[in-house]
Amino acid sequence: MKQVHLAAHFPGVNNTTVWTDPRSRSQIDFESFADLARTAERGKFDFFFLAEGLRLRELKGRIHDLDVVGRPESLTVLAALAAVTERLGLAATVNATFNEPYELARRLATLDHLSAGRAAWNVVTTSDAFTGENFRRGGYLDRSERYTRAEEFVRLSRELWDSWRPDAVLADQESGRFLRPGSVSAVSHRGRHFTVEGRFNIPRGPQGHPVVIQAGDSDEGREFAAANADVIFSRHGTLEEGRAFYADVKRRLATYGRQPHQLKIMPAATFALGDTDAEAAERAAEIRRQQVGPQTAIAFLEQIWGRDMSAYDPEGPLPDVEPAVEQGVSQGRVQVADRVAVAARWRAVAEEKELSIRELVIHMTGRQSFVGSPATVAAQIEEFVRTDAADGFILVPHLTPGGLDDFVAEVVPLLQERGVFRTDYEGATLRDHLGLGGTA
Ligand SMILES: Cc1cc2nc3c(=O)[nH]c(=O)nc-3n(C[C@H](O)[C@H](O)[C@H](O)COP(=O)(O)O)c2cc1C
Repeated sequence: MKQVHLAAHFPGVNNTTVWTDPRSRSQIDFESFADLARTAERGKFDFFFLAEGLRLRELKGRIHDLDVVGRPESLTVLAALAAVTERLGLAATVNATFNEPYELARRLATLDHLSAGRAAWNVVTTSDAFTGENFRRGGYLDRSERYTRAEEFVRLSRELWDSWRPDAVLADQESGRFLRPGSVSAVSHRGRHFTVEGRFNIPRGPQGHPVVIQAGDSDEGREFAAANADVIFSRHGTLEEGRAFYADVKRRLATYGRQPHQLKIMPAATFALGDTDAEAAERAAEIRRQQVGPQTAIAFLEQIWGRDMSAYDPEGPLPDVEPAVEQGVSQGRVQVADRVAVAARWRAVAEEKELSIRELVIHMTGRQSFVGSPATVAAQIEEFVRTDAADGFILVPHLTPGGLDDFVAEVVPLLQERGVFRTDYEGATLRDHLGLGGTA
């Protein structure tokens, strides 16, 4: 029976997070990370996942109200988590545009050693000038270059990891020979984006190559994933969209001589549980109202309309103003491609359903992927995986750090009863958990 894969997204900085809830704790204390990671490991999850942002988001030049301030550096946090977990995979989102392969390959290999084979790298390519101002003279890497750089980055990292044979370290105290002769090769790479001449300074990690995750959605992004990734983190979380996306990327694998099981598709998923489906639906609505408070509703509207909307009452009707054409009100978030069309669509829905600004934002922006009793949610998850809409999910709880407690206590045992989720880890490495086969 096809097995479900599960990962835990640390809520951190995103607009799912309800930091105003009295049960929420710090976004940056180590204990918060450790608590959520332990819960995920108790639930036998495949991995723990940290997102990344390299500049504080802004709205109208001020720190964006939707942000929960504080995003510690992922690999540092994961190295600490390696010490308090045993089997859970540890995935860091790290940008291929603003880093260097030799340095990042070292840091990932180090995490793979420290965690005994549990490291993963989510390769993101965000290349906007706003983020770039922190890194590059001129800020910008042309969009068309972001995947050529990422591709070369991953290829070169693999060359570095492969440059040590698995049996290179002899450490023979009698003969005094540390390295097996000829087992560490020199890397000589001169490409469009990088030049590396020399030897890598870390022995091959337990997984060989840390697991590679990809999270872009463009055609180039999908092609990059088909060629390079072990896992895709996608936004296609409905049955229909999920199936279309799944078929599309799995079809691309053949070009690269790869098999469908070598790339796992894991959409982001949120959830709301209750003793009954009706209670869960009520809780889901409550969570959405917490997520979209009055200021947040206005901030969302401003992102779409591209202009100051702070004079309007969030509990009142949508005002009769046109969206601004220029960009730049909101920085560090996805830009709205066609404001006029999106605003027109929002207006039509507001009028048809007679919604206030806040109700409209709640209606138009995300809802929980899975809502219901534990039995209902377990059945839904199984259906997604069985019918090839996903291979599993990266769960995004709304509370830090207790947001997965109920899921692990109530839904995981039902998935196990259905025979679609492990009752214990079978292997030691993240590659084992994901069914990717031995070391790469
Ligand atoms: C589900 C999902 C999660 C993402 N998470 C991050 C992130 O944490 N940090 C980041 O810099 N970019 C993130 N991205 C952005 C992508 O890496 C990528 O840079 C962006 O989508 C542009 O690539 P594309 O044109 O192929 O979509 C995410 C994208 C998706 C779909």
